[in-house]
Amino acid sequence: MIDLDHHDSMLPAAVKWIEPTTGEIAGRLLDEAALPAGARILDVGAGTGPLVVAAASRGLEVVGVDIAPLTTTYLTGRVAALPLASTDLADANALPYPDDSFDAAFSVLAAMYAGPGALTEMRRVVRPGGTVAIVHWARSYMSPYTRIIWETSPELAVNLPALTPADFTAALTGAGFTDVRVAPITAGYALPAADEFLLEFSPFVITHPGYRAMSPTQRAGLDTALAARVRRIETGEEPRPPFEALVAWGRA
Ligand SMILES: C[S@@+](CC[C@H](N)C(=O)[O-])C[C@H]1O[C@@H](n2cnc3c(N)ncnc32)[C@H](O)[C@@H]1O
Repeated sequence: MIDLDHHDSMLPAAVKWIEPTTGEIAGRLLDEAALPAGARILDVGAGTGPLVVAAASRGLEVVGVDIAPLTTTYLTGRVAALPLASTDLADANALPYPDDSFDAAFSVLAAMYAGPGALTEMRRVVRPGGTVAIVHWARSYMSPYTRIIWETSPELAVNLPALTPADFTAALTGAGFTDVRVAPITAGYALPAADEFLLEFSPFVITHPGYRAMSPTQRAGLDTALAARVRRIETGEEPRPPFEALVAWGRA
């Protein structure tokens, strides 16, 4: 299984490849939430901060919390000039905020990695009636990128359980949220050039035991096979894998 604990190793790839997609999603969530200027919101697993930056630019007071130190340092620098935005380094399972201290909380491809405690914590820190919106992968192969890697080399399977709408609803309801509704959410994404695909996503792959077990020859073979697959997608010989995620909305 890909090591999801080492999010910091993904920082350059997150800035370049993940954030344009999650930024699109962040904008859509904020549009739909339609919070009044001055509302105080929390972004759990803020990462490089697309939702934090978008929220501050809409006049929302926003705190981005993340467990990855390097990523949080990056985000702290990024928002230093934004008076409405701040960051904290903390585990989503033990949020360092009093009860009912936010009007809304968001988490894009993050809280569900952190485990059920993160949902309970989001419920605790959002005031009664406040909004929560959580996005997570719908499929066991997660992103289009990890799907391409997994399907090209099954030893590199991601092995995350697929999340059904019923599971997602049950997770939020179990954490005490009401008015829970789950819907598919999709977004565009950029694909690295064929010859650069493995290089760009190497931080994700190198922590995988299946990759570590490969010989140099096998690794070169993986590089060639991934490039060939991406080239087929580029030329339209193969369909581009869709971005398949779900968004769960609820009220604290
Ligand atoms: C795929 S990134 C998404 C980042 C950002 N939300 C975005 O939309 O671009 C997942 C983020 O969740 C964070 N994360 C994972 N587990 C966490 C936990 N237990 N507490 C806080 N953050 C966590 C990671 O450090 C990483 O920055």
